[in-house]
Amino acid sequence: MESFYDAIKIITYNAFMNTLFADRIIDVPKSFIREMLKITSDSTIISLAGGLPKRDLFPVQEIIAATDEVFKVYGRDIFQYSNSEGYLALRESIANNYLAKGLQVSAENILITNGSQQGLDLLGKVLLNDGDGVIIEEPGYLGAIQAFSLYRPHFSPVPVSEEGLDLEKLQSVLSEREHKLLYAVPNFQNPSGITYSSNNREGVADLIREKKVFIVEDDPYGELRFAGIAKPSFRKYLPEQTILLGSFSKIVVPGFRIGWIVAPPEIYEKLLIAKQASDLHTCHFTQYILYQYLQKNSIAEHVAKVIKTYREQCQCMMDSIDAYFPSSVEYIKPEGGMFLWVTLPKGMSAMELFPRAVKEKVAFVPGDPFYVNKKGLNTLRLNFSSVDNDTIKTGIQRLGKVMAELQ
Ligand SMILES: Cc1ncc(COP(=O)(O)O)c(C=O)c1O
Repeated sequence: MESFYDAIKIITYNAFMNTLFADRIIDVPKSFIREMLKITSDSTIISLAGGLPKRDLFPVQEIIAATDEVFKVYGRDIFQYSNSEGYLALRESIANNYLAKGLQVSAENILITNGSQQGLDLLGKVLLNDGDGVIIEEPGYLGAIQAFSLYRPHFSPVPVSEEGLDLEKLQSVLSEREHKLLYAVPNFQNPSGITYSSNNREGVADLIREKKVFIVEDDPYGELRFAGIAKPSFRKYLPEQTILLGSFSKIVVPGFRIGWIVAPPEIYEKLLIAKQASDLHTCHFTQYILYQYLQKNSIAEHVAKVIKTYREQCQCMMDSIDAYFPSSVEYIKPEGGMFLWVTLPKGMSAMELFPRAVKEKVAFVPGDPFYVNKKGLNTLRLNFSSVDNDTIKTGIQRLGKVMAELQ
């Protein structure tokens, strides 16, 4: 009898929960990576899972000096409310950086956001109705899948390879239905580490031109190039149809949560309304500190230091993979960024590998959460930015052992 009442209670509770929450949140999963970071917070586990920048490279002393200066100049006013667009001087310095690369961007096009992650949410809020088409890379950035999912779009995945987006598939997806957005991370993509070639970018632009589709070019890693040459932004090919997302998370510190959106004026206006409704403005204090830091230090020198470290750590990871992984395992060699994408032999599931790896005290991100409608995949993501060379070697050695056992 008791179990009958328990069952009723559960059914009633579930029915209550289903009516409690808005439809838009019911099916959106928790971030797999955030959940996994809880497992890997065990300090005895080597984590090649997260997407963290290297903490030793944070310019702490310089930021302390910048903070002192901000207090000296602005005193208690620095704690006052501020405007929603963001600190004008900071927006001008971001615009100047684009101009130096030959991209026509002005401060009026730039909205400072709480990390580029907020940019994704605001774009969803402003542009997506239920069922609107969003073209997404396969595999794609988990945080974008999660952010857009709240607005219940129809995702059309298009595979990426070492060249970039699969143009044939893109063409067929575009002909099947209307889409509002194409979301792309063309430089050192998260999770695959690939960079679109110039030809591929041109090919994508040719297919999008004449269509009512905006490209959302998310570029938090673009400055972290350690091989090859920089490729043009989509804004060069489609200035009216490209929305750029940028961030200081990977080049200065992620904890300030400062990113930005570059958007055409009519979209900017709506984004500003959504930003006001969401949080009034991004933290004024950290924007001023960041600007002061940029004024008093050479960001180019700092980024060069970050690149040097990531290049060495990436090389160490590739050498370790060559030494310790079964020869049937393949990986994509990145030209920058923070990630290495690994393909296991056919039939070997990365999800199955994961608990075994954690038992051996090493973690990675299985490929599954980076796909919107596929499971049991034989791909996985490794992070090389946050761990030192000795830790990388030990982690890869442990992982190689588990792979050999599963084989
Ligand atoms: C592709 C991509 N976009 C956006 C973000 C969010 O970055 P943030 O909000 O720290 O600027 C990340 C973070 O890892 C990312 O990999």
